[in-house]
Amino acid sequence: MPRSVRVASVSDVPPGGSKEVMAEDKVIALFNVDGVFHALDGICPHAGGPLAEGTLRGTTITCPWHGWQFNVSNGQNCLNPRISHKYFSVKVEGSDVFVELP
Ligand code: FES
Repeated sequence: MPRSVRVASVSDVPPGGSKEVMAEDKVIALFNVDGVFHALDGICPHAGGPLAEGTLRGTTITCPWHGWQFNVSNGQNCLNPRISHKYFSVKVEGSDVFVELP
């Protein structure tokens, strides 16, 4: 059953920023794109790099290890449409950020 897990305060991730958080046992990369939060599986599907430590430009995160790029709003790989990374729905309630786990 889907469940909502609090992962951060809004103030933890300023616009243009990212942060690695835990939602139960899952590593999540949380992104703030101009005030809108997005969440991807925090482990890069290429070789396990920490996506939250990459460079965020607009909705594109570049993995710090080998440069794979993903759209943080849907998990789509920017160069290879056959690669899609796990995306989690995010909601903000007051000053708290929640990630929806399946
Ligand atoms: S581990 Fe992310 S691009 Fe290689």
